[in-house]
Amino acid sequence: MKGLNNKRMNTAIILAAGRGTRMNVGMNKQYLVLKNKPILAHSIEVFQKCDLIDEIIVVANKDEEASCRANVIEKYGYDKVNKLVTGGDERQNSVYNGLIHVSNKCDIVLVHDGARPLVTSAIIERCINGVKNYGAVSCGMPIKETIKIIDEKRNVKVTPKRDSIWITQTPQAFKLDILVKAHLNALEEKITCTDDAMLVEQLGINVRMVEGDYENIKITTPDDLIMAESILNYKKRLPK
Ligand code: CTP
Ligand code: MG
Repeated sequence: MKGLNNKRMNTAIILAAGRGTRMNVGMNKQYLVLKNKPILAHSIEVFQKCDLIDEIIVVANKDEEASCRANVIEKYGYDKVNKLVTGGDERQNSVYNGLIHVSNKCDIVLVHDGARPLVTSAIIERCINGVKNYGAVSCGMPIKETIKIIDEKRNVKVTPKRDSIWITQTPQAFKLDILVKAHLNALEEKITCTDDAMLVEQLGINVRMVEGDYENIKITTPDDLIMAESILNYKKRLPK
């Protein structure tokens, strides 16, 4: 029994406190319906169904909290969601607000964009296994196209070797103490980063990439919705 009580938890922070400006539909893209349910519900559902996840914290905009609770968390019965907390102005602030609410039994924390509804249990498992070995991981994939670094006039300055460039996705996963330290350091040093891995990199701690999936896209602009719907249709047709 003692072992059970002392079980260390894997906590997922799922972010939904953006505004979806680039989607340009006059509402937070998180609540747009993809196939049969809101984008955010797809994202939460994967973590809800994954045996490795013990607790979920959803970060939402203050004015959307009531509808998020009623139309997503309660409607679909996501009972691993322990807390619904208010987001901040920037993504980094939203993560921080989630982070200060994780259970005191949390050992590994995963940060996921609610706008990536096509995440899978297999990706979550690779992230958690990665953290156990390396302490800090991001999922991602090798780029498929050649990248050009340009100057302000769009002259090409460098063409980096393709095999050393990956795109990042979420989840990103960390030992809790590492991510807390990275966020506190960022607050103190006034560092702002677009992802959590970068905050950890600022501490001089190595972040390891694990394989995500090319299908684990972020819904950012309207074309991404079409892509996500096609992927879901295609997955449905695959033999189980
Ligand atoms: N996010 C958040 N809090 C913020 C900003 C973003 O929780 N202050 C979340 C978004 O809800 C999304 C994820 O972080 O799930 C990735 O951000 P992004 O794709 O940029 O979403 P938005 O900020 O909503 O979109 P945009 O930048 O086009 O306004
Ligand atoms: Mg944004």
